[in-house]
Amino acid sequence: MRTGRFCAIYWIVMRLHIREMLSSQSGEHISFHMPGHKRCGDDITELRYSDALINPTGVILRAETDIAKILGAERSFILTDGSTCGIFSMLYALKKEGVRRLAFPAACHRSVFNACRVLGIECELIGTETAYGIPLQPTPDAIARAVSNADALLLTSPDYYGFVAPMSAAAEICRTHAKVFVIDGAHGSHLHFSDMYAGKFADMWVDGVHKSLPALTQGAVVSAKSRQFSEALGEGVKTFRTTSPSYPIMASVEEAVKFPRNEAIERAAERFKREHGAVENDDWTKILIYFGRCCDLAERRLAEYNVYPEFNDKNYLMFYLSPCTKESDLKKLGALLKELPRGERVFVKGEIPIYSEGV
Ligand SMILES: Cc1ncc(COP(=O)(O)O)c(C=O)c1O
Repeated sequence: MRTGRFCAIYWIVMRLHIREMLSSQSGEHISFHMPGHKRCGDDITELRYSDALINPTGVILRAETDIAKILGAERSFILTDGSTCGIFSMLYALKKEGVRRLAFPAACHRSVFNACRVLGIECELIGTETAYGIPLQPTPDAIARAVSNADALLLTSPDYYGFVAPMSAAAEICRTHAKVFVIDGAHGSHLHFSDMYAGKFADMWVDGVHKSLPALTQGAVVSAKSRQFSEALGEGVKTFRTTSPSYPIMASVEEAVKFPRNEAIERAAERFKREHGAVENDDWTKILIYFGRCCDLAERRLAEYNVYPEFNDKNYLMFYLSPCTKESDLKKLGALLKELPRGERVFVKGEIPIYSEGV
């Protein structure tokens, strides 16, 4: 893992290619091009000087090359249409490489079901067990069984509740049986500093940069580990990505991936979890606090103080952090939590409230 000092130096030496290009063009600019607002801040389009996302040769290529280096990929593609586009692109690449049946946990994001349906990929579902209302990651045994009936495996890691998949075991299973391994890392782009990073295990993976790093909403990256998949992934990206990419989003993705690690807030989050009896999970950015029947009441009370959790699944409130979370805000949350009632567990029959299949 990198130390804080190393990160600070790293941050200084890394150039922000897209941001620098935008700043250098902030003078007079007479717009006879889209968008219709005729130049509002950095929201430009693909012009002579600004490169083109579909076939980059300038600042965007330099940004993508840096991002690939940081994430340990052979090729990374900036996305301005969320991890959803990355999932569709990865599954397109799988199909192109001959995958007909994909194994994945039933509690996957809807984009996985949707991409399978659109691309005609068969689903081999891995049953999702729950414990205390929390969906569990599949075991290596369950993964091995599913992989034996499929051509490729997709896992979500970390998941929405902050649990990391058994990626090392899964990668080994896939290697042994010559199956492709892809990871939906929509909630894990902040982990690229760590051993729990999807890119250390998968052939292709998506980073939802806007979720846990400071990128604008919809900013994401999809990557391929080796040359074997980068061409097919590039074709997938060209098929599903918008042809009108947002420069503010692209610049923010580059900046977010180059954003230094914030070890102080990581430590504060772990301390907070212990002090407030949060569920023990693997991911410091996801603080899961049990309120049971008092979930709605707790959420309402917090809103009175302008404090908003990421989700309320009727048993837990989840507070989603990032390297930009302020310690003072965590302290404020801690003080409020002490005043809030915690209730009995709510049994939600048969399904996991915040997940839903397809469409
Ligand atoms: C696990 C998971 N994968 C993929 C996505 C899709 O991400 P996006 O909303 O950036 O398209 C989400 C969205 O919440 C998600 O939770």
